[in-house]
Amino acid sequence: MEAYILEQNGGVENLKKTTIGTPVPKAGEVLIKTRAIGINPIDVQVRASKDMLGMITGGHLPDRVIPGWDVAGTIEQTGDGVTAFNTGDEVYGLLNMPGLGSTYSNYVIANIDQIALKPENLDFTAAGATPMAALTAWQAVVTLANIRKGEKVLIHAASGGVGHFAVQFAKVRGAYVIGTASAKNEAFVRSLGVDEFLDYTAGSFEEKVNDLDVVIDTINSVEHIIRSISVIKRGGKLIYLQPHFADALSSKLEETGIKGFGVFVNSSAPILNEISTLIKAGKVTPQITKVFSFDQLPEAQTMMESGRAVGKIAVEIQ
Ligand SMILES: NC(=O)c1ccc[n+]([C@@H]2O[C@H](COP(=O)([O-])OP(=O)(O)OC[C@H]3O[C@@H](n4cnc5c(N)ncnc54)[C@H](OP(=O)(O)O)[C@@H]3O)[C@@H](O)[C@H]2O)c1
Repeated sequence: MEAYILEQNGGVENLKKTTIGTPVPKAGEVLIKTRAIGINPIDVQVRASKDMLGMITGGHLPDRVIPGWDVAGTIEQTGDGVTAFNTGDEVYGLLNMPGLGSTYSNYVIANIDQIALKPENLDFTAAGATPMAALTAWQAVVTLANIRKGEKVLIHAASGGVGHFAVQFAKVRGAYVIGTASAKNEAFVRSLGVDEFLDYTAGSFEEKVNDLDVVIDTINSVEHIIRSISVIKRGGKLIYLQPHFADALSSKLEETGIKGFGVFVNSSAPILNEISTLIKAGKVTPQITKVFSFDQLPEAQTMMESGRAVGKIAVEIQ
């Protein structure tokens, strides 16, 4: 099979496309013939930083690191005891998070507890780019914030991979949603159904909103998250996507009487099936704004690294 191996941490040039043996599924596993994958910020962080690679693998580094977690494809082979899926089934999933998913490959092994049947109304490209961002947004909006009808919610980077799903989930739950991005992404964010759009480059959001029930802060900055705390009402909730900021935020949260929750996304077929139900009903739609070929995968990572991606970036494999 063809796979990108991360030879050492550093720039995209360290991702080397190589031919290696195709793995065989064990009991409870399937072999997926990959059709498309999604690119996520963690892909870039793990490529660039040895610490991030060590963190995600729990310090157990395999001899060969194949990056990537998002996948959509067709089941090629089933392992012993697998009855939930058959050869030829079209599936998608976030594989082995935390750990290495190894989806930068034209074949990949998946545990059956981590995949779901692909919604028929999504093509492989859209399905492959969905799992990590959608599961993260679900854990933020549903599992941790438990957003309810009528609640006033601010979602930062509503134009990004996680943000664009979070807006749609929060609207499904009946919230009043305010989304931030820069002006060039206003039409995109409004198309997701926000009630208000805030251009974060045209003045600080603290001057425009306050007394919120929930803020979902996707920005990788303690200072930004502390600014978010200042617009949440006492007893409200802050959801942040950098769980390692917990210590830095704890005294501010205590002082203001706000509950803080850090998200750490996990692979989960049950949650992915709930997301599939919303996608099949047309209530949630992944927005794929840029598609690369397998040979262009390093370019896809460079685009993700820019921090300017809109919706999701996908790589088509075969
Ligand atoms: N803890 C977890 O389990 C977990 C899981 C997934 C992701 N994450 C983290 O969550 C973050 C977001 O992930 P993502 O996939 O959504 O990223 P993304 O798709 O790369 O986000 C890009 C978007 O962010 C917007 N943006 C950048 N700075 C902004 C700001 N200051 N205010 C408002 N919008 C801003 C950009 O819009 P403009 O161009 O208009 O600025 C762009 O559209 C990343 O840091 C990622 O590492 C954590």
